[in-house]
Amino acid sequence: MNIPAIPPEKLPALLAAMPKAELHMHVEGSLEPEMIFALAARNGVALPYPDVEALRRAYAFTDLQSFLDIYYAGASVLLKEQDFYDMAQAYLARAAADNVVRAEIFFDPQTHTARGVPTATVIRGLARACADAQARHGISAALILCFLRHLSEQEAFEALEDALPLREHFIGVGLDSSEVGHPPEKFARVFARCRELGFHIVAHAGEEGPPAYIWQALDVLKAERIDHGVQAVHDAALMRRLAAERVPLTVCPLSNQKLCVFPDLAQHNLKALLDAGLCATVNSDDPAYFGGYVNENFRAVFAATGMTAAHAWQLAANGFEASFADAGARRAWRERLDEVFERAADSQAK
Ligand code: ADE
Ligand code: ZN
Repeated sequence: MNIPAIPPEKLPALLAAMPKAELHMHVEGSLEPEMIFALAARNGVALPYPDVEALRRAYAFTDLQSFLDIYYAGASVLLKEQDFYDMAQAYLARAAADNVVRAEIFFDPQTHTARGVPTATVIRGLARACADAQARHGISAALILCFLRHLSEQEAFEALEDALPLREHFIGVGLDSSEVGHPPEKFARVFARCRELGFHIVAHAGEEGPPAYIWQALDVLKAERIDHGVQAVHDAALMRRLAAERVPLTVCPLSNQKLCVFPDLAQHNLKALLDAGLCATVNSDDPAYFGGYVNENFRAVFAATGMTAAHAWQLAANGFEASFADAGARRAWRERLDEVFERAADSQAK
């Protein structure tokens, strides 16, 4: 569509109002410090921090691993089905308030089974929250099971086996956790099995790791989307392929800033990815840890990089293009997006 010029001071309201898909967020990364302490008290779990403020002060990350160490400690308070429900319910309410109409939510069963929490407990709580959010907020939500790449392929196979009795509750599989030293090819066979089973395939690649990991995610795992992928800019042939095939990149600006992937948000390459014709999207990754949910990611990256209303429309449209929802739903969301921009154009003309 023809995107109107919107003065910069009016852009934040448009960014907030536009309907959007969130395709890259880890539900364990939506655990706010207050909820961590509430669940710790409810479940009798001891935390290595005296209070919420002390925990928040520990959120000074230098790289992905420094974050993951705290993130896995935070998840230790999740024990019961109701805990998983409450966590996902809180995220979905916040997402709906940000005009997210579709959320594809990652979860890490191995983080919980390692503590003796059955996979069924995790999935039942999350799936119930997704179903209730559709009824309560009109938000469409689906789950994607992620394998922890710092563990072995054999352990990933076991996680898959554990989850298969509940397979109707998740639409895809992904790959997350410590990237460098754990290339996608380590998981070639388990992803081949997941493809046979009919799951959608995504993988974190090119967050801190090299472009070679993105090639592997595409060619070995057959990933349909790349989570992060921002290191692709260092490989011109890869950029050409990602653009030609419209492979979606689920980019997470505040995450990249907090984990020092870019020295500063002003140096983020989201605009360069879009201008090169890639299907980049904006997402929150671990919003409770990185300082904002999806609208705050949009606001901050636009303020820092000077993107325009045309970029905003493209990012939201890319989110619907990249979603695994059915074509009818994606078309309806695109129409809602276009209506929001048409209204913005009309009020500009007045
Ligand atoms: N798990 C949660 N957040 C992650 C990230 N940004 N990268 C890899 N694994 C993660
Ligand atoms: Zn992630």
